[in-house]
Amino acid sequence: MTQARVAILISGSGSNMEALVRAMTGAFPARPVLVIADDPQAGGLARAHRLSVPHVVVDHNAMPGDRAAFEAALSRALTLARADIICLAGFMRVLSADFVARWQGRILNIHPSLLPAFKGLHTHARALAAGGAEHGCSVHLVTPGLDDGPVLGQARLPILPGDTPDTLAARLLPLEHRLYPAVLARFAQGDLRPLLL
Ligand code: GRF
Repeated sequence: MTQARVAILISGSGSNMEALVRAMTGAFPARPVLVIADDPQAGGLARAHRLSVPHVVVDHNAMPGDRAAFEAALSRALTLARADIICLAGFMRVLSADFVARWQGRILNIHPSLLPAFKGLHTHARALAAGGAEHGCSVHLVTPGLDDGPVLGQARLPILPGDTPDTLAARLLPLEHRLYPAVLARFAQGDLRPLLL
């Protein structure tokens, strides 16, 4: 059984990237081949170094306003790494329809809400403001629409009295770290059935 080659795109601390990398051992049907940060300051670069995963920076600030150049550099790095699957993990750039089409069906993203609720930013504050009883995270296939693709997995948690966006985010992150590897394992084997943790 060949193992899928996984590239992970980050912009920040990279805790989801670390969870994915740590899961990809033994019988797991995928292996990390590259971490790409869009910012040289991304804390996840130090994590990738500690995890001995090859890592590069494709600095979006080096090509200000030129998304085509940025995405061409991304595609070059992904092609050189022979990536089969791309995991966006705390990646803060919106990818163009052209890029998504180029890697059609092979890009996953984790989003900190129970999609289709709360697409976009500030999801914890918005979930609190909505007054619902639950919050959660979703892993979905990336399509041209923002946070809009088919959901491949979700994990839920109760919203507690006194929760703030920060307490909610902190309680949600460990669930993300369980959900993303579980979905990736199924996806790498071609299993697109939604996983509900
Ligand atoms: C996480 O909440 C993730 O859902 C969102 O970015 C946050 C930071 O993730 N996409 P990480 O620690 O950089 O993986």
